[in-house]
Amino acid sequence: MDAHIPEEILEEIRARTDILDVISEYVSLQRKGKNYLGLCPFHSEKTPSFTVTPDKQIFYCFGCHVGGDVFAFLMKKEGWTFVEAAQDLARRQGMVLPERSLSSEEQEKRKKKKRWEEIQELSANYFHTMLMEHEEGGPGRAYFAKRGIDRDMVVAFRLGYAPNRWNGLLQALSLQGVSPRELADAGLVIEKAQTPGQYYDRFRNRVIFSILDSRGCPVAFGGRVLDDSLPKYLNSPETPFFSKGQNLYGMNKAAQGIRFAGFALLAEGYMDVLALQQAGFANAVASLGTALTREQAKLLRRHTGRVVIVYDSDAAGTQATLRAAVLLGEAGLRVEVLRLTGAKDPDEFLHTQGYDAFKSSLTQTQTYVEFKYQIITEEIPPEGILGKAEVVAKLAPDIRKTASPVEREGYERFLSEQLGLSLEAIQREIAKNGRQGPGKAQKQEYSPAEQDISVKNRDNINRYVLSGERSSGQFPNPTVEPRRCRAERNILRLVLEDSSLLARVENELGPKFCTVPAHQEILDLMRQAPAGAAFSDVGRDLAEGTGNRLAGIMAENIDLSKREKLLADCIQVILQAREEEKVEELQTRMAALERSGDIAGAMALLKEIGERLKRGEQ
Ligand code: UTP
Ligand code: MN
Repeated sequence: MDAHIPEEILEEIRARTDILDVISEYVSLQRKGKNYLGLCPFHSEKTPSFTVTPDKQIFYCFGCHVGGDVFAFLMKKEGWTFVEAAQDLARRQGMVLPERSLSSEEQEKRKKKKRWEEIQELSANYFHTMLMEHEEGGPGRAYFAKRGIDRDMVVAFRLGYAPNRWNGLLQALSLQGVSPRELADAGLVIEKAQTPGQYYDRFRNRVIFSILDSRGCPVAFGGRVLDDSLPKYLNSPETPFFSKGQNLYGMNKAAQGIRFAGFALLAEGYMDVLALQQAGFANAVASLGTALTREQAKLLRRHTGRVVIVYDSDAAGTQATLRAAVLLGEAGLRVEVLRLTGAKDPDEFLHTQGYDAFKSSLTQTQTYVEFKYQIITEEIPPEGILGKAEVVAKLAPDIRKTASPVEREGYERFLSEQLGLSLEAIQREIAKNGRQGPGKAQKQEYSPAEQDISVKNRDNINRYVLSGERSSGQFPNPTVEPRRCRAERNILRLVLEDSSLLARVENELGPKFCTVPAHQEILDLMRQAPAGAAFSDVGRDLAEGTGNRLAGIMAENIDLSKREKLLADCIQVILQAREEEKVEELQTRMAALERSGDIAGAMALLKEIGERLKRGEQ
């Protein structure tokens, strides 16, 4: 626990945060009863064993045994400290953490950022005013007019123009108290290599696209030439406060449109976003001239569950579509592709074919698999049995990744129709490819039934009882039986579900009944936890290994409908195990007495053993 964030703020963060929302940004999750299941982000696997339990607000991987609450997830996934994770969660909820929680270093950084924001704002105003009002802005106005951009759009997107001078921005901003050095740090002017201390404007004679963050504040600029000269676009460089890969052009305007439409339209270019939005497709955004990044996919995932990619129709656009689709899919988004015909990009399409044509083509999007099929077969038309098999083989990994069995069969049927092969043949081919691939058999990949979890879990108990961990000191008692270990886990779980059971458990077994040290540690903490304790109450103070185990216990699927019976059974298992231990111990002592010639002593022990065994049978 970190003292910098007050407990009541942490409480509020916890209350407002849904672990499912957070983890969904990293893992594509599928509902399985009370749990959600997906591929573990902490180890590489093909069969999902990563679970999220919204009821308990915890995650747990039955493969690598990492688990915990939402704080633990972000700490592990992002490499953050507890405080950093809390800050991120607070930000997501729009909460403002008290200033005093910042270190002086952080305060310094915040001050710098504020200044940087001011400079971005002043610069955006400069470019925009140039375009809107200045005589020098004539070429910019003419350019946007030629491209059919309305004045409303120019204002809403804070479009601008950088005049054809070396010191336009430099001069204008120095009048507003911004030094050339500050402008250079913000990437807006460049220091001359030959004569240090002298600067010139980065953007000259270009129309300016302000890249606005979610609040509508400018964070970077893109500048396009007015003719066909090169480079076509110049962009703000990466700075400590701006990274291209973390923003999407148009997002501030599109957020509402995406919510309304239920999906996002992802285009390539600034001009595409402007044209689409102007035409009424208010859900259009674009990546900033880079290949789509994981961060951008996550950003989209925060706004929607579905994305339609509408990239340029050239070869580069096609390749970029394939890459983006994979990333978006991995971020948990449903991906479709809109392939434009007769135009190089959405901007041109809208100008030449119009709103209605675009609208109706939106009803004819392709799935990623259909799109990829088309691309592959356009390159090499499938001929003969081998050619067809090759196409299936190329698509098999994508199809196998499909989490929904219905969707998967849809793809298999699609291939069967396209290639004129039987559905069975297609399915066999896809399954066959899976077995040939690296790693182990993938047969279960798409049937991650709840049983899988408990089966794995049982294996797991056997594994740590029968080998490895025991010798590493986790299990000092070599007679620990899997049954007993499981009983301990179940008891902990039942008490976690209903803390009033703790008294009864301790009444029958005493306060120290766990043979697994981590179990005992959890039990001891639960004794102090408030009634109805959540993971966060208990798990927070545990060592990482113990925390993982606790999450595992919580994530396990056990039948809680007969908790009385289950509890009684588990207590019985432990009592019986203790009895067996006791008998074993007596037998050892008896053997020793026999060897030492104390026959009377040995006989007395034998009698006791007999009585105990008789009692056990009753
Ligand atoms: P495009 O060349 O397709 O540009 O590049 P566009 O936005 O459609 O512009 P028009 O319609 O041809 O005028 C797509 C995106 O790639 C980035 C820009 O973000 C652009 O919008 N890009 C392109 C660059 O960053 N630098 C370049 O030199 C070219
Ligand atoms: Mn384009």
